[in-house]
Amino acid sequence: MSVHKSVPHDSGPAHVTGTARYVDDMPLPANTVHLAFGLSQNAHADLASVDLDAVRTAKGVIAVLTADDLPFENDVSPSIHDEPLLATGVVHYIGQPIFLVVADSHLNARKAARLGKIEYIEKPVLLTIDDAIKADSRFEKPLEFSIGNPAKAFENAPRQISGQFEIGGQEHFYLEGQASFALPSEGDMLVHSSTQHPTEIQHKVAAALGVPYNAVRVETRRMGGGFGGKESQGNALAVSCAVVAQMLQRPAKMRYDRDDDMIITGKRHEFRIAYRAGFDDAGKLQSVIFEHHVRCGWALDLSIPVGDRAMLHADNAYYLPNAKILSHRMRTNTQSNTAYRGFGGPQGIVGVERVMDHIAHDLGVDPLEVRKVNFYQTGGDQKTPYHMDVTDSISAELVAALAASSDYIKRRAEIAEYNAKNPVLKRGIALTPVKFGISFTLTHLNQAGALVHVYSDGSVHLNHGGTEMGQGLNTKIAQVAAEVFGLDVSAIKITATDTGKVPNTSATAASSGSDLNGMACKAACETIKERLVEFAKKKWEGEVSFAGGNVTIDDKTMTFGDLAGAAYVGRIQLSATGFYKTPKIKWDRMAGKGRPFLYFSYGAAVTECVIDTLTGENRILRTDILHDAGRSLNPALDIGQIEGGYVQGAGWLTMEELVWNDKGSLLSHAPSTYKIPACSDTPEIFNVALWDGENSENTIYRSKAVGEPPFSLGISAYLALSHAIAACGDSYPDIDAPATCERILQAADKLSGNPW
Ligand code: MTE
Ligand code: MOS
Repeated sequence: MSVHKSVPHDSGPAHVTGTARYVDDMPLPANTVHLAFGLSQNAHADLASVDLDAVRTAKGVIAVLTADDLPFENDVSPSIHDEPLLATGVVHYIGQPIFLVVADSHLNARKAARLGKIEYIEKPVLLTIDDAIKADSRFEKPLEFSIGNPAKAFENAPRQISGQFEIGGQEHFYLEGQASFALPSEGDMLVHSSTQHPTEIQHKVAAALGVPYNAVRVETRRMGGGFGGKESQGNALAVSCAVVAQMLQRPAKMRYDRDDDMIITGKRHEFRIAYRAGFDDAGKLQSVIFEHHVRCGWALDLSIPVGDRAMLHADNAYYLPNAKILSHRMRTNTQSNTAYRGFGGPQGIVGVERVMDHIAHDLGVDPLEVRKVNFYQTGGDQKTPYHMDVTDSISAELVAALAASSDYIKRRAEIAEYNAKNPVLKRGIALTPVKFGISFTLTHLNQAGALVHVYSDGSVHLNHGGTEMGQGLNTKIAQVAAEVFGLDVSAIKITATDTGKVPNTSATAASSGSDLNGMACKAACETIKERLVEFAKKKWEGEVSFAGGNVTIDDKTMTFGDLAGAAYVGRIQLSATGFYKTPKIKWDRMAGKGRPFLYFSYGAAVTECVIDTLTGENRILRTDILHDAGRSLNPALDIGQIEGGYVQGAGWLTMEELVWNDKGSLLSHAPSTYKIPACSDTPEIFNVALWDGENSENTIYRSKAVGEPPFSLGISAYLALSHAIAACGDSYPDIDAPATCERILQAADKLSGNPW
């Protein structure tokens, strides 16, 4: 078998030896030009004058472009054409591109970009959610999903709590920054882009050049991380390169320096979540009402589906018989926030996890008890707040297994003892589950294609619509092809994603890469296999089977290569396309009703941490995770996704802090001021296991998507810190995310009555 095996990542050796090629590593033709943006220094202003004389005469500068110089569309938005590549008369955030410098080197382009003299007429600046609420600055009317009678059920409930907290954004911090390279050729354009969405790059480039889609080919071999930050944010670079390449008929390359990358591109959406919950004495929820305020930034980008997914995950693993979720998408003069691992889901989930925790504090019981009484029933058909039946819940069994393997109950008791004895150091522990819906919420995106060639020596060339960003998608899809043909994975050549080979693709996103492309690849391989079987049956008469690189027809055995060679001579077509569309899904977002997801992925984590109540310093001591990847396609890759997802999620809620000044300038725009988890921040004890089960839906070899769901397991780190703080006093800790040292100290002092 090739699937369900820990096949190493196909690029692993190349990654660690530095031979894996990224856009910035490509050998460049001699006459390549280099690009850099001149950025707005004002968060909201009319452009009174733009004097670029000093830029034009700077060393190495070949050309300088403003919006007026663009030949066709001036737009890089992935949604509603509200994002000009270069500003037209008005700027909306600090970092917005105003002009484009073309120079003989990357450094000369960047240096010249600093020399623009721009006069601004300042306009009112809205930075925070509060600013936007006051000015009623928003995209779209508020959206509401509801079920039952939440207002009445809240009033009638024996007990009630309410609260509000803020959740900060998050920089993607992919190791490879945004990068593009465009090569003009006989009127056509080839673009190499570090993107999760080659087809969108193709569309935006075509619109900018005024050519049909077939005149643009986009190639993506791999990204050095995307995490959602390369779903739409690569458009500006690709379009810039293509426009300049067409204008000058020279190859053009652009990459953002790290600081520019952080200043220009959108991030995870900040949220404010207000909640009211009514429950009984056992903690069983009778009503929950959530209000989300989402900071979208200046342009729409993907904020609507991100805000929607937060609402769709507001229940997480819990049955909410009466619920209302109201969401406001606020527009501010900051970077236009975008997709980020979980796509709003984690923000929705952290809301209800905080509610569980708060209820337990109110009742004076272990939060695990409250969670247990609220899980969706196993094998039940309880409805979500968006009226979908949950039929595949395994939360109760999975959490019970994790609580046992992690010794949760005993350790919680030991922590209580420890905290009673230690005045300075306090420990905390939390167990949080995840239930994550799998499918794009925009139904038509749930389709994929693949192209498979078998050469006459039996070697296989595989192409599919997904992109590789480190998650191991190409390895998994190669395993699928190997499985169908009974070959070793090494016989399958994985190639760069190419819009010229598989057209009309969706972004590799929503964790759907292996579900969609795996099925498309399987379909293509099966088409070829059927032709081979038919051919062999006719020629040699007998039953045909494929295994171990060989083909057996009754008592005759030959290599797969021999059969391919014979089939070629027999004039059999050895190339095929495959296509897949997700069945059963249907979603009406305005009504808030339907089945947006084919199935759910489940998991749970227990995190134990310690805080220093004199300084706020803290660390994670131990983490145990049990996660459901269905019948895993590749356990090693899946465990890698779970470990990485957890650490990234914990980073979001505990240390990664974005800070803007009161003019809207991002102050934390480099690793010196923005702290992501390092290897030394991973838990000292880190036990990760896969749940032994299979997808109840007919997905690719009964596996489940794994890219984003484990990100939300990082919530257990946040609530473990909150538990440790709770040991400092009697009230429920008031702590926003990220729970930085400063906030932990403040919250602990507030609880213990120390003045600040
Ligand atoms: N893992 C790595 N190493 N690098 C990444 O950029 N992106 C995540 C996740 N895991 C990412 C990653 C995100 S945001 C998504 S949507 C999925 O991978 C996409 O890939 P998949 O659909 O193949 O799981
Ligand atoms: Mo992932 S946020 O869907 O790219």
